Amino acid sequence: MNYERSVSAIPHELAPETVWNVEMPELRVGRGAIEELGAQLSALGVDEDARGLIVTDGTLVDLGHADRVADNVEAAGFVVDVYDGSEREPSIESVERCISFVREELGEEGYGFYVGLGGGSCLDTAKTTRAVVANGGEILDYVAEPTGEGEPLTDSGPPLVLVPTTAGTGSEISPVTILSVEEKNVKEGISSANVRADAALLDPTLTTTLPPELTARTAMDALGHAIEGYTTHAYDELLRPEDPADRPVYAGRTGFTEMFSERAIALLSGNVRKAVNNGDDLDARGAMLKGALYGAIAGLTAGANLCHAMAYPVGNNYHTYHGETIAVLTPASTLGYNVASDPERYARVAELLGANTEGLGTRAAADLAREEFLRLQRDLNVLPSGLHDLAGVTEDEIDRLARQTVDTQQRLLRCNPRPVTKADVVDVFEDALYNWE
Ligand SMILES: [Fe+2]
Repeated sequence: MNYERSVSAIPHELAPETVWNVEMPELRVGRGAIEELGAQLSALGVDEDARGLIVTDGTLVDLGHADRVADNVEAAGFVVDVYDGSEREPSIESVERCISFVREELGEEGYGFYVGLGGGSCLDTAKTTRAVVANGGEILDYVAEPTGEGEPLTDSGPPLVLVPTTAGTGSEISPVTILSVEEKNVKEGISSANVRADAALLDPTLTTTLPPELTARTAMDALGHAIEGYTTHAYDELLRPEDPADRPVYAGRTGFTEMFSERAIALLSGNVRKAVNNGDDLDARGAMLKGALYGAIAGLTAGANLCHAMAYPVGNNYHTYHGETIAVLTPASTLGYNVASDPERYARVAELLGANTEGLGTRAAADLAREEFLRLQRDLNVLPSGLHDLAGVTEDEIDRLARQTVDTQQRLLRCNPRPVTKADVVDVFEDALYNWE
């Protein structure tokens, strides 16, 4: 057994981990869930005459979704304002603007509740805003050193309900918010139990307006979470921390996360073609939302690894969409390099993706996972065929990307089920340049 990964859980007893725990917002899932937003806010203890803020973007206002959400909040007797300035892949400056809006409207106290509505960017803007207003100061106080001050968030603030309109990022349940630091060309996260939302409300009727490209991209991110979580190290391969609070956020797979992974892989791969080709298919949209939720429960608890580690430098250098980057890198990393770590497990992934593995040996069945995943991506017709097609990446740029991966992503690389050196990362990037002609 290899305990090197436990560097993320110091101090620890010299004994294997024996405990896992799950923290989750309250969930309401299904058609019409949005009509229960008022009830959800009351259940979270929001006062009758409280004034809240919906954090969203201009597109969701134009589509009428912000009004629909506001109507449901107001019908329950609450007063609500709308902030529609969230930006894609939000920079620290763009979220500071939302925080300033809150302080100008209501002073340091802020609103009595918050609702995040939109894709991962809107949800992260809402999560960060609530946390920073509640704890005072500015965002950089809470971003990890050396970019920020690394201060802990001690107060979770007033209730926050997240309403995703894409099926993919998992931000609605995660304890992390991702912000880009423009002058440094990097992304930073604030990771804290006090960033996690109090409730998430998943209603497929809010996702039918999502265009095919975005549907495909976010689905690939969700599928990545599900498969990476399913194939990462087991929780008891870590050492048990002396203080449970020191247990790492990505604590390894458990029987609980594996159940969610299996269901997520089947739901996402079984419905994404329908959701991309007919956005109004509410059954497919509902299945995608659930698949993304399950994928997030699995992947964001058990942990992402090599593929997500490689995706961050690519995103930082080329400003690609996260989901597309995951789509392009998954075949060579998760479903390529990592297969040797546990072929039997990957043979199961192949089956869950819909491959017929009958009569095949374990390794041949395991390798079908990659083929089946590529077939799915090609069928969708809206995804790039490799790193080159994604962002014009050439062979010459790979060394730099690999160096950035090993220099900045040890947190994720440590979780990889197969040890990775820089030379391995170079090979995987090369393998990801062209996934198909
Ligand atoms: Fe992701």
